[in-house]
Amino acid sequence: MYEQVIEEAKQFIETLFAGNSGGHDVGHTLRVYQNAITIAQKETDCRMEIVALAALLHDVDDHKLFSTENNENARRFLKQQQVKQEDIESICQIINLVSFSKNKGRHPDTLEGRIVQDGDRLDAIGAIGIARAFAYGGEHGRTMESSIDHFHEKLLLLKDEMNTETGKEIAENRHQFLLDFLCEYEKEMKGL
Ligand code: ADP
Ligand code: NI
Repeated sequence: MYEQVIEEAKQFIETLFAGNSGGHDVGHTLRVYQNAITIAQKETDCRMEIVALAALLHDVDDHKLFSTENNENARRFLKQQQVKQEDIESICQIINLVSFSKNKGRHPDTLEGRIVQDGDRLDAIGAIGIARAFAYGGEHGRTMESSIDHFHEKLLLLKDEMNTETGKEIAENRHQFLLDFLCEYEKEMKGL
C-alpha cells in the first residue's frame, strides 16, 4: 500500500541528510532500514511497511541534528504522502522509542518498534559501529581513548539489549568483532 511512500522516504532522507558525515549520514539510515527489513522478514505478523517507514524516518527529528518538536519532519512528510493518521501515530511512536540514549533500557512494546530498535543498535556495533565511534570522536574533537570508553559504556552492552532472535544472532557476531578489535587495539597500544 505504501510502496511509493517508501521510495519517496528514501529521496526525502537523501536530501535531508545531505552534508552530514559519520554517525548520522544517510548511509546510517539506509543500513538501519536494511537491518530492519532483514529482521522483519523472519518475523510473522509484522507490518513491514510500518517497519520500513519508521526505519527510514527514525533520525529525521533527532535533536542532535534538527531542532524540531513533536516529530515535525516525519509528520510533515507522512501527511504530504497521505499516510493514514493512525499509521503516522504508530510510526512516530516507534521513532520516539528507538533511541538508546533517550530510552536507556526501554524496549518498544510493539514488534515493529522492537525490530527498528534492533536495526538501529546493530549499526552501532561490529565494524561499522567501530568506524562510527571513531568518526563521532573525530567530529567532536575527542581523543581515540574517549571512543574506546564509549565501547565500554554503550557498545558492549547492546548485544544483551536486542529484542528479536534475528537481531540477537547478528549482534553476537558483531559483538565478538568488537571484543577482537579491543584486544588487538590494547595489544598494539602496549607495543606488542
Ligand atoms: P542514538 O541517537 O541512535 O542513540 P547516537 O546519536 O548517540 O545514537 O550515536 C550515533 C553514533 O555515534 C553511534 O554509532 C554511537 O556509537 C556513536 N557515539 C555516540 N556517542 C559517542 C561517544 N561519546 N564516543 C564515540 N562514539 C559515540
Ligand atoms: Ni539511528
